[in-house]
Amino acid sequence: MGTPVIAGNWKMHKTPQEGRTFARQLSTKALNLPEVDFILFPSATGLHSIHEALVDTAIEMGGQNMHHEQSGAFTGENSAEMLVACGCQWVLIGHSERRHVFAEPADSRPLKVATALGAGLKVMLCVGELLEQRDQGRTQEVLREQLSNDLGQLQRFPVESVVIAYEPVWAIGTGVVATTQQAGEAHGMVRGVLRDLYPDDDLGAVKVLYGGSVKSSNAAELIGTPGIDGFLIGGASLELDEFVNIAEIAKQELRSA
Ligand code: PGA
Repeated sequence: MGTPVIAGNWKMHKTPQEGRTFARQLSTKALNLPEVDFILFPSATGLHSIHEALVDTAIEMGGQNMHHEQSGAFTGENSAEMLVACGCQWVLIGHSERRHVFAEPADSRPLKVATALGAGLKVMLCVGELLEQRDQGRTQEVLREQLSNDLGQLQRFPVESVVIAYEPVWAIGTGVVATTQQAGEAHGMVRGVLRDLYPDDDLGAVKVLYGGSVKSSNAAELIGTPGIDGFLIGGASLELDEFVNIAEIAKQELRSA
């Protein structure tokens, strides 16, 4: 594993002011954790002011979603260019809440991925199966379907610009975390699918994160699992100490690996 990625998905939490205070405090604490790549995903309203708090720090920031068109009559949406203008380096695409709560059309995702990369954003693409799909033994099929659809516009896999977050839907916000065996297997599946999709690419450096009820109490086990390069954290990213604890744990594991 290289440098662990510790990403916080704040979902619809924190006002811009709260986010800015958190970002300032995190940037002080992150000075002691140069071996960790931090990324924050605040709500769109906070991006601009949080970016100001992160200027001159190594902490990166991203939007939680975007529209694939550059502009137009899309009330309530944000474009890649807008995210870049607010200081984003990243965008989350295909988070399970976008897929399942907002029923985002599958054919929008490959367009979003291509538009984001074209605008200079790095993409964190979230994939993961529902509980019933897992119970039916369809996890691998679902991951294959999601990855091949969502990356469908990319001839080559840009290892530097696309990170995959494996987030089993049944583990998100439920307190039920995947076992290390389940997570390890699914990460192996993600890597296997990418190898099938991009047989000519060198995928050695591709990063695959785990997400779903990550906390400081389960982080050590998970980060010690081969194939897990970091975490996408929801609930536990809202509290500074807990978020930093998880990063400390990831760093320790990296040192002892
Ligand atoms: P959780 O959310 O850590 O609260 O389970 C993870 C996510 O939705 O990215």
